[in-house]
Amino acid sequence: MAKVYVFDHPLIQHKLTYIRKADTGTKEFRELVDEVATLMAFEITRDMPLEEIEIETPVDKTKSKVLSGKKIGLVPILRAGIGMVDGVLKLIPAAKVGHVGLYRDPETLQPVEYYAKLPSDVKERDFIVVDPMLATGGSAIAAIDSLKTRGAKHIKFMCLVAAPEGVKALQEAHPDVDIFIAALDEKLNEHGYIVPGLGDAGDRLFGTK
Ligand code: PRP
Ligand code: URA
Repeated sequence: MAKVYVFDHPLIQHKLTYIRKADTGTKEFRELVDEVATLMAFEITRDMPLEEIEIETPVDKTKSKVLSGKKIGLVPILRAGIGMVDGVLKLIPAAKVGHVGLYRDPETLQPVEYYAKLPSDVKERDFIVVDPMLATGGSAIAAIDSLKTRGAKHIKFMCLVAAPEGVKALQEAHPDVDIFIAALDEKLNEHGYIVPGLGDAGDRLFGTK
């Protein structure tokens, strides 16, 4: 079964509080999502494999560690996932970025895919799928289905706020995909919004309504 990691780092929790607040404007919201994405990327990369290489410092020869694992593919779920891309790239600047476009049908809450473009060397990469929200789980499940259909094998999912319903659905659909979240909220409301959540992530990031 997929593992679920809830990041309790004080900086992440502090920034998330201001992301949640209804009176936080678009500019500040965007900046905070970017900062939290960087902090989460720091935690999510904790298990990256290392190898020793020989180097020369100005003083002596020594063995020192460098990253040795597969290259990273970063996949935001459009639209709101875009808000987390730059923050992750600050720590993993060489990652290639794919995109999966999905929107949630407001009536059925089912995800509808309208775009998918991944790095051509998809089989050679470990993927991090990012989206601020994991609500019913439909979008994350469909995005990961899309990646797997195209050959992706190792995938992690990272979001800011998750509902228990979405975590359960994603774990059941993709038991091999570990889930990294900043906060596990209480529930979904009758419109499929996370409670207390932060509202519509895409609208708050891009200033739309
Ligand atoms: C939001 C959010 C997720 C999805 C989560 O996107 O960014 O992708 O809802 O809900 P789910 O877990 O129930 O699928 P939305 O469909 O509003 O599209 P947008 O990013 O284009 O605004
Ligand atoms: N999508 C959002 O943007 N917010 C929610 O609370 C649920 C789905």
